[in-house]
Amino acid sequence: MKKAYIRTFGCQMNVYDTGKMLALLKNDGYEETHEMDEADLVIVNTCSIREKPELKVHSFLGEARKIKRNRPKKDMTIAISGCVAQQEGQNLLNRYPDVNLVFGPDAVPNISTLLSATYNQKQVLDTTFLDEADYVFASDIDPNATQRVGAFVTIQKGCDNKCTFCIVPTTRGKEVSRPSDQIVAEVRALVEQGIKEITLIGQNVNSYGLKKSGERTFAQLLYAVADVPGVERIRYTTSHPRDMGLDVMQAYRDLPQLCSQLHLPVQSGSSRILRRMKRFYTRERYLEVVDQLRSARPDIVLSTDFIIGFPGETDADFEQTMSLLEDVRFHSSFSFKYSERPGTPALRLVERDPIDQILAGERLMHLQKRQREIAQEEHMLLEGMVVPVLVEGPSRHDEGVICGRTHTFKTVNFPGDVAWVGQTRKIRITKAFANSLRGEAV
Ligand code: SAH
Ligand code: SF4
Ligand code: F3S
Repeated sequence: MKKAYIRTFGCQMNVYDTGKMLALLKNDGYEETHEMDEADLVIVNTCSIREKPELKVHSFLGEARKIKRNRPKKDMTIAISGCVAQQEGQNLLNRYPDVNLVFGPDAVPNISTLLSATYNQKQVLDTTFLDEADYVFASDIDPNATQRVGAFVTIQKGCDNKCTFCIVPTTRGKEVSRPSDQIVAEVRALVEQGIKEITLIGQNVNSYGLKKSGERTFAQLLYAVADVPGVERIRYTTSHPRDMGLDVMQAYRDLPQLCSQLHLPVQSGSSRILRRMKRFYTRERYLEVVDQLRSARPDIVLSTDFIIGFPGETDADFEQTMSLLEDVRFHSSFSFKYSERPGTPALRLVERDPIDQILAGERLMHLQKRQREIAQEEHMLLEGMVVPVLVEGPSRHDEGVICGRTHTFKTVNFPGDVAWVGQTRKIRITKAFANSLRGEAV
C-alpha cells in the first residue's frame, strides 16, 4: 500500500476536504500515515485567511522538499491544496520546482485524475472554479469517521458575501448549496458508522438553499437532519448574523438535538466599522439577534470572532467592541489583528487609514484578557452542577482521564474508561478553567 501524509491548516472546510481526500485516496490504494518521512504522497491543505497561516505553508513546504531531495530516487509526490493553492496557483509551481500538483478546493473530487497526471514528476495545476451546475460534492465518507463521535457534513461551498477584509470569496468561489437529500444521506451513513454528533458546515450556513428554487431552507434542513434516527446532537458553523431568521429561532424551540451553543461572528461592536467591513448588520441588530436566540433557547452559549485594528478603528470604536463583549458575555472568542489580504477591498481603506500595529496589539491583548476573565467567571457558575457529557476520547494530557463535550460545547476532562466513548454520561463539574472544565462521573 502507498502512504499519504496530509497536513491540514485552516477552517472546518479544509478539515472536511482532507477527509474527502483520504476517502478518495483510499480507493486508489493509499493508506494514511502520520510520518512524513515514510510518505509516497505529501499534501498540504492550506489556509490564507491571515498572513500567518499563509506563512506556515511555506515553512512546511521547505520541510517536505528537504525530505524529497534526500531520497535517492526523489520518489515523493508533493501536492498543495486549499486556499493558498487557489490564490497563488502557478506562482507556487514556479517557486517550488519539487512540487508536483497545485489544486484548488473545487478540484478536490478530481484528486485521483490529477495525481495520475503528475506521472514522471510532471507539474500539474488545477484552480478552475466550476459552474454551479457542474459542481459535485464528493459523497465518500472520511475513513477515520469510524473512530470518531462527531463529524462535519458540508452543506454549501463558497461564499457570496463580500466582507471587505476577507479572502474567502476569492479562494472558494461562488456559494453553491449541496442538495439536501445528499446531506441527509451522508448524515445517515455517518450515524450508521457510530457518529452521534453532526456539525453542518459552510461559510454562511443561514443562506443555505435560498438560491435554488424548491430546495429546503437552512431551518428546514435542521429539521430534516434531526429526523434521522440516531442523531443525538446537531451543531452548525458558520452563521452570518444578518441571515439569522426567525425560522432558525423556532428550530431552537422545537429541536432538542440542536445544541445550546452558537458561534456567531460579530467582528466588531461598532456599527461604523461594521459598515466599512460590509457586514450588513449594526451593533443593535446583532444584539437583537442575541436576544431572540436567548428567548428561544435560554441556556444558549455564544462564541464569536473579533477583528481588531480594522482600518479606521478609533478608541471609541474599540470601546464599542469591548462593551459588546460585556453585554453579550461570550464564553469564548477568536480574536486577531486585522491582516491585509491580497486583492481584498479593505486594502483601499488601509491606504487612507494606515494601521498602528502597536496600538492594535494593545487593544487585542486588552480584549483577550477580558474575554478570559469572562470565560472563567461563567465557567465558575458551573461548579457543582451535574451535566450530560458526550464522551469523545482519552484526554490529550493525562492518563486515565477522558474528555467529552457538554451541549454547550465545553470540554470536560474527568477520570473514566475509554469504553465510554460515544456514550452520554452525567458528570459533576468540580473545577472551572477559562478554556475547559474538570469533573467526575456521578
Ligand atoms: N464565514 C465566516 C468566517 C470565515 S473566516 C463569517 O462570515 O463569519 C473566519 C474568521 O477569520 C472571521 O470571522 C474573521 O474574524 C477572521 N478573518 C477573516 N479575514 C481576516 C483578516 N483579513 N484579518 C483578520 N482576521 C480575519
Ligand atoms: Fe468571508 Fe464574509 Fe464570506 Fe465569512 S461571510 S467567508 S467573512 S466574505
Ligand atoms: Fe482558511 Fe480557506 Fe478556510 S482561507 S479559513 S481554509 S476557507
